[in-house]
Amino acid sequence: MLQTQHLTVRFGGHVAVNAVSCAFEPGTLTAIVGPNGAGKTTYFNLISGQLKASGGTVMLDGKDLSGRSPSERTRAGLGRAFQLTNLFPRLTVLENVRLAVQATREGSHRRGLNLWSIWSDHKDLLARADEILRDVAMADKENELVANLPHGDQRKLEVALLMALESRVFMFDEPTAGMNAAEAPVILNLIRKLKADPTKTILLVEHKMDVVRELADRIMVLHNGTLVADGEPAEVIASPVVQEAYLGVAAQAASVEDGAPPHPGLPPRGGRSEES
Ligand SMILES: Nc1ncnc2c1ncn2[C@@H]1O[C@H](COP(=O)(O)OP(=O)(O)O)[C@@H](O)[C@H]1O
Ligand SMILES: [Mg+2]
Repeated sequence: MLQTQHLTVRFGGHVAVNAVSCAFEPGTLTAIVGPNGAGKTTYFNLISGQLKASGGTVMLDGKDLSGRSPSERTRAGLGRAFQLTNLFPRLTVLENVRLAVQATREGSHRRGLNLWSIWSDHKDLLARADEILRDVAMADKENELVANLPHGDQRKLEVALLMALESRVFMFDEPTAGMNAAEAPVILNLIRKLKADPTKTILLVEHKMDVVRELADRIMVLHNGTLVADGEPAEVIASPVVQEAYLGVAAQAASVEDGAPPHPGLPPRGGRSEES
């Protein structure tokens, strides 16, 4: 299980992420929503280690990763989609996936110069790489150079690499942003498929509420770096704080009109983190 405890970062005087404590269970998809500048991307950066926290911890399965580098966190199982600089544009799709599979199996390649074991390892790596490419529906493109792939396929391949690296946590930050109408459903399908795997934990920052409604088991709302709501999707979406903080000005105007206080009650917070 992934957990952040009082995770905080300050930029000068500005607290971009403010003591966010949350636990994310395997087999669940949590949508993180909130207005622009709420701290969603920064929260991911703190989890993946791209950004050093000013305070708080990031734990995965009880292991404290707070002091670890991004690559150590990747090895520990934290997968940040679409941040990978590990795509090799001049290699083929299959070669890219095979290298990622190989990276998780370092040990077996230290058995010395035994031709039979090198050959059987190689076959094994290829079989696993093929399986992943079938999973992401890219088997027909395995021999294409990555540099020649359309944008949507490159993104799919990045997810394939996280699968090859045996990531347990997948973080998607606006995965369909910049994608065309044909590409977006393909990535969403891939997220649906990952979600069906009870060992994977998925965090999704997404603006499109129809996507959030369909995919989320839980919604977290960030506002000015603070977790202002966290719970069941229907409950969170209906809550006044979301109507105001996320759906914005219209709801704000409405609540001013009917004289309601600005934060007339938050939904229960972090229900899941207490369970385990
Ligand atoms: N590296 C940085 N240096 C200074 N301020 C930053 C940095 N990264 C993010 N911020 C600020 O932190 C806040 C949260 O940004 P961000 O996490 O990108 O929001 P979101 O992804 O929710 O739109 C914003 O006010 C942004 O300007
Ligand atoms: Mg962002």
